[in-house]
Amino acid sequence: MKTKRKSYLTAVCALFSFLCAAAALAGAAMAQQQASGPDNATAAVSAVKPLIVWYSRAGHSQLVAETLQKQLGCDMDTIASKKDRSFFSIVNEQFLGAEDDQEKCKRDLSAYNAVIIAAPIYFMKLCAPARTFMELNRKALKGKDLYLFVTLGGKLPEGKVTAIKEYGAGLGLNIKGVFFLQIGKQEEFPQRVSEILKTTPLQTAGAK
Ligand SMILES: Cc1cc2nc3c(=O)[nH]c(=O)nc-3n(C[C@H](O)[C@H](O)[C@H](O)COP(=O)(O)O)c2cc1C
Repeated sequence: MKTKRKSYLTAVCALFSFLCAAAALAGAAMAQQQASGPDNATAAVSAVKPLIVWYSRAGHSQLVAETLQKQLGCDMDTIASKKDRSFFSIVNEQFLGAEDDQEKCKRDLSAYNAVIIAAPIYFMKLCAPARTFMELNRKALKGKDLYLFVTLGGKLPEGKVTAIKEYGAGLGLNIKGVFFLQIGKQEEFPQRVSEILKTTPLQTAGAK
């Protein structure tokens, strides 16, 4: 009788220990999932790491770059042109093939997987500083997603968007988007930039 009772107690103890161990294991697994959940989500979002580079003569493209930077919370730098551009030097660049003279890009482009260029349009063509930047850095830019945010007085016709994309393709670059913003409508830049960003996979972990 005593032996029967003892083995019954042993079985109950064993069952109780088993249940405790199972509960502890389940709790640990849940805690680990909760801890790793947000990190995984952040890793997925922060996998997009864009750099903004800009050239601006009169400030509009700079404003576009700063608006983008505010909304994306990413790194930004200038396209450091050494030229003091006049109307005639722009004509020379846009029609006669003159190139920009610019300082070497200070950023390590390999640290970014997307590059956004903000720059003006002159005579319906992308300005020389942006073109020269792509040419000088084409090896480092290869394989990255490029997005161009251009400023101009009017609207950029579809044919000119295609021409810019073809120019990039000629350098072996992947221009995924060309978006334009009209000068004179600066107060609309934040809204326009926000709308454009909704259609691109550029949102970062630091995005606001
Ligand atoms: C020489 C020159 C040519 C221009 N050509 C055009 C043009 O073909 N179409 C257009 O809509 N705006 C044109 N613009 C307006 C520029 O695109 C506008 O001033 C530019 O977006 C200003 O950029 P920024 O303020 O960043 O320097 C031209 C401006 C200059 C100075």
